Amino acid sequence: MTKFLRLFLLLFVVQVSAQQGGMWIPSLLEGMNEKEMKSLGMKMTAKDIYDVNKSSLKDAVPHFNGGCTSEVISPKGLLLTNHHCGFDAIQNHSTVEHDYLQNGFWAYKMEEELPNPDMVVTFIVRIEDVTTKVLDGTQALASEADKQKKIQENISSLSNSLPKESWQENKIRTFYEGNQYMLFVTETFKDIRLVGAPPSSIGKFGSDTDNWVWPRHTGDFSLFRIYADKDNKPAAYSKDNVPYKPKHFLPISLDGIKEDDFTLVFGYPGRTTEYLPAVAVEQIINELNPAKIEVRDAALKVEDGFMRKDQAIKIQYASKYASIANYWKKWIGETQGLKKSNAVGIKKKDEAEFTKRVAKAGKQSEYGNLLPEFEKNYKEIAPYSLARDYFQEIALRNTELTSIAFRLYQLEQVYVTKGEQAFNARKANMIDALGDFYKDFNKTVDEKVFEQLIGIYSKKYPTQFLPASLKNVNASALASEVYGQSKLTSLESLKTLLNGDAKTVIANLNNDKAFKVTKEMAESYFNSVAPKFEEINLKISALQRTYVKAQLELFKDKRLFPDANSTLRVTYGKVKGYEPKDATVYNPVTYLDGVMEKYVPGDYEFDVPQKLIDLYNKKDYGPYAENGKMPVCFIGTNHTTGGNSGSPAIDAKGNLIGLNFDRVWEGTMSDIHYDPAICRNIMVDARYVLFIIDKFANAQNIMSELKLVHPKKK
Ligand code: ARG
Ligand code: GLU
Repeated sequence: MTKFLRLFLLLFVVQVSAQQGGMWIPSLLEGMNEKEMKSLGMKMTAKDIYDVNKSSLKDAVPHFNGGCTSEVISPKGLLLTNHHCGFDAIQNHSTVEHDYLQNGFWAYKMEEELPNPDMVVTFIVRIEDVTTKVLDGTQALASEADKQKKIQENISSLSNSLPKESWQENKIRTFYEGNQYMLFVTETFKDIRLVGAPPSSIGKFGSDTDNWVWPRHTGDFSLFRIYADKDNKPAAYSKDNVPYKPKHFLPISLDGIKEDDFTLVFGYPGRTTEYLPAVAVEQIINELNPAKIEVRDAALKVEDGFMRKDQAIKIQYASKYASIANYWKKWIGETQGLKKSNAVGIKKKDEAEFTKRVAKAGKQSEYGNLLPEFEKNYKEIAPYSLARDYFQEIALRNTELTSIAFRLYQLEQVYVTKGEQAFNARKANMIDALGDFYKDFNKTVDEKVFEQLIGIYSKKYPTQFLPASLKNVNASALASEVYGQSKLTSLESLKTLLNGDAKTVIANLNNDKAFKVTKEMAESYFNSVAPKFEEINLKISALQRTYVKAQLELFKDKRLFPDANSTLRVTYGKVKGYEPKDATVYNPVTYLDGVMEKYVPGDYEFDVPQKLIDLYNKKDYGPYAENGKMPVCFIGTNHTTGGNSGSPAIDAKGNLIGLNFDRVWEGTMSDIHYDPAICRNIMVDARYVLFIIDKFANAQNIMSELKLVHPKKK
């Protein structure tokens, strides 16, 4: 190696390792990121990604139904997102005769596409900084509560008055915890139809066992189409609507990826908390995550036991189980990752540096008390936070009977605060929604869950807040008493209980054992926990705002990105493997061979469709293979979080190369502390998506809409 080359390599390494994650605001890339992106291999300009005057990538990336991301991939408004993002819609169209979850669904003509009432996708038209306008008139206010109230008033009046077209909306969101405010002008389309979905044995292959795990082999995609009115504007569903003509759609690269290729992920990450002080992270590691994990662990064990023995229960609890298990598994990975990456130690070191810089800048009076104040307030809030998590996880989230009883408790509160008329309206609404709840409710399963969780509650809920009647309970005796006596265990008996005027109903409710237990838990929470929690939490938010402001001022060398807040962000990095533990190296790409290695015939997680096995045996991969092998998933250093599901992975030139759907387990702490060594996002390879549409589903109607390109061969 020449000296020159060595120097060159050294520089290169330094540059790459300088990449510390981050979720960036698309309208600010030019100043903040463009240079680094180019040094990582990007061949586009910031304006190709976000532009207000001409079409750009952002015009192809709408928010999908509030929680996920999607991308337009044809001139006829064809949308790509994850299978798990379309899951509810696919399930809603499924019946025993047409089980689209089990067998997949493909519209071979546009007339066959299936409408989805209530589904929406939202595009960003433009982004503007409105900080000064939002903070106008707040400087003079002394109390934090008054400040927040004024800000909310300003936001709602600005949302109404700032210019927009009649079919558009103004949304204002805060960045850097209240230090910056941005306006998003948006367009929301309301006629979205299902076009295609692979069977779950492809789209959800590996299910909960493989969830959050690399190596991964899931074809987690589904297809929808946006319909618009004759003027290409958003409109409610109508059969006269026509396919939407997008301002931009993503071409799909057939050249694939290799390690170290530049990647960009564009989407709507939900929430991160990257700027917490060490004391807050310690609390998450030592108290809050373990509490939530313990509760879900117990609930999942009970449900799993029943689901394995009984097919009907398995169907009733499949979706609920998956959603409880998703974050349970994430928190376990997050806790381990925070420890392994020494997040607390690193934060403490950063805080020492912070203190030094505050002193050097002569800002003690402004920022000198922040860290001690955090210590004090986090210590004070600890039992309240813990009680809040236990109450939410036990009473509201994981025991179904108490969650329904809680809704009835709220109904009682409506009567107390708003009177009979409001009560009747709420009651009617509730009764309408109950069918859905009881369809998937099993009394025997839930009784066992209650027994476990009320046991945890009586032992672990901070004693100073614990209702007297729930001290030292005999959990199993209480469970059989509650489930034996309560009328809330079936739809019919609950409907009977709800018969009559408000006074009668409320008297009946208060004689119901499930209602009584839940009411005690709720009142302990609302009387003894919530007010103090809110009070301290408001102080912590104000400290956090000042802390972020101080960091922006004192760490100009550090380029800080704003925490995720469900707004459109760009994250970028490289295709990269990682070393999860000593002597173990993970490659960045998986292949169909790995699907076959995991194949367990008839298994609910690892079955493989016969058609896919046949294609594998014949190596009938069309133009999508690479050296005779069919790529399935790949990972990269892009910093993503929940909400980035369905986000496009884009190459150096703006073509689609993959579809984001998960993160690796060892790196799930990236919501709190991003470590470039082990944080990876997981994407389906675009070539696998094409292979499934073309070779597996033979949906040539869909193939003919797409624009396939060979960026590297040009
Ligand atoms: N972990 C991914 C996410 O957070 C995928 C979840 C859906 N898949 C599942 N097996 N539950 O949303
Ligand atoms: N599966 C997640 C979602 O639904 C994305 C994975 C993550 O949290 O990074 O948004």
